[in-house]
Amino acid sequence: MDHKGVTIWFTGLSGAGKSTIAERLVAFLRERGVKAELLDGDVVRTNLSKGLGFSKEDRDTNIRRIGFVSQLLTRNGVVSIVSAISPYREVRDEVRREIGSFIEIHVHASLDELVRRDVKGLYEKALKGEIPNFTGVSDPYEEPLNPDVFLDTEQESIDESLGKVLSALEARGVIPSGAASQMAEAAVG
Ligand code: ADX
Repeated sequence: MDHKGVTIWFTGLSGAGKSTIAERLVAFLRERGVKAELLDGDVVRTNLSKGLGFSKEDRDTNIRRIGFVSQLLTRNGVVSIVSAISPYREVRDEVRREIGSFIEIHVHASLDELVRRDVKGLYEKALKGEIPNFTGVSDPYEEPLNPDVFLDTEQESIDESLGKVLSALEARGVIPSGAASQMAEAAVG
């Protein structure tokens, strides 16, 4: 199926749910014949961005690299899904300008909730000072001022968050109308 390319950029703190929702989204789209690709910060840092650390400079380099690949995919009609903390507003806005067809999604949960979840055990270490420059603890996270979609994963189920993303994709004509409501029905039934 031919469709227009777009970058769907998930930004938010570690453990907020970016990758989980992005993985569900990529599976949903592929099942429906949409060409979709996922660029996940954790994965990109094992290849394209291997060797980069977490200074502002290295994070900005990581985001520019991801943005570059996402731009190539987007202009070839792919739905390119990015999941990366991307803590700095300026470089997020830079890649957004370069890519053009872009949906910014802020995946939010409070720090208390993230520390409680601590899926990777990183917050505990960061709070003890064992991981320096940890986003949200000892390093900044600049929240999007006007994201296209805001997901509060503390209040919403994964299905609800995914439904909000799909509604935004419908509104932008990336997927046919009705797909989001079909999913909501499937989740209930
Ligand atoms: S970004 O800031 O450059 O966008 P990215 O999303 O690629 O970050 O990688 C974040 C992941 O790296 C986190 O989910 C976590 O597993 C790991 N990580 C290791 N050290 C840090 C740190 N100091 N701050 C944030 N995440 C870290």
